[in-house]
Amino acid sequence: MSFEITRQSTAVGAYVTGLDLSKPLYDAVFERLHAAYLEHHVLCFREQVLSPAQHLAFAGRWGKVSVHPYVASIPGHPGLMEIGDPHPITVEWHSDTTHAATPPRTSMLLARRVPERGGDTLWASQHAAFDTLSPALQEMLQGLRAVHRGTEMAGESGLSAREVTAVHPVVRRHPETSRPALYVNADYTKHFEGMTEEESRPLLEFLYAWAARSEYRWRHHWRVGDLVMWDNASVQHSVVPDVEKGERLLHRVTLEGEVPR
Ligand code: SIN
Repeated sequence: MSFEITRQSTAVGAYVTGLDLSKPLYDAVFERLHAAYLEHHVLCFREQVLSPAQHLAFAGRWGKVSVHPYVASIPGHPGLMEIGDPHPITVEWHSDTTHAATPPRTSMLLARRVPERGGDTLWASQHAAFDTLSPALQEMLQGLRAVHRGTEMAGESGLSAREVTAVHPVVRRHPETSRPALYVNADYTKHFEGMTEEESRPLLEFLYAWAARSEYRWRHHWRVGDLVMWDNASVQHSVVPDVEKGERLLHRVTLEGEVPR
């Protein structure tokens, strides 16, 4: 099957065109996509017409679909969630569900309804963010771990703080490539292990700003039928809140991940 993979920015992101994801993927096709995923960290498959079941079947080719601990699935489709209007949590730069002991490795969004303009999503390479820090700070960060906690939505759904709290390395090694990546984010990281929030804040604020620098980014304007998958061990993401209420609807699936190391 002939399809094209086209890089979209220096650090992150590629379009995949000429592939119909409603059909089973041959192993050779999957292997090429997998290699591209490791290289670009974000793949956008254009012009996809997929039912929820086909979306879940494509996701299942990459791993085991996970069910969010406190955000409801679409009835009849466990693991498929609706993402609508930009929300403070999705507008903030983050990697998905880092308050879990085993946060999802891969997330996928399929655009169902999109505005003519606005509502773009950005991704930023956390490998590039780490690689461009000074060696002394890289070394210091590699000795630190940080505490991550879920939002108040977790409490509202009856979960205790303990159930949505995890401690992860500040620099994680990619499970397949071993590349180091920054792994703290403004949604869920609370403080460095063994330090107070007050002590942690100045360095965390610096790292959040560094992690989202423009040269590590790719910005995507959605079309209906775009399916974007990204690697939470490599990137953070953020949506631009410049849309009217109800203009935007995407379906999200995440895949089970591993303990960050
Ligand atoms: C998300 O953070 O998972 C959603 C991003 C978006 O709405 O584009």
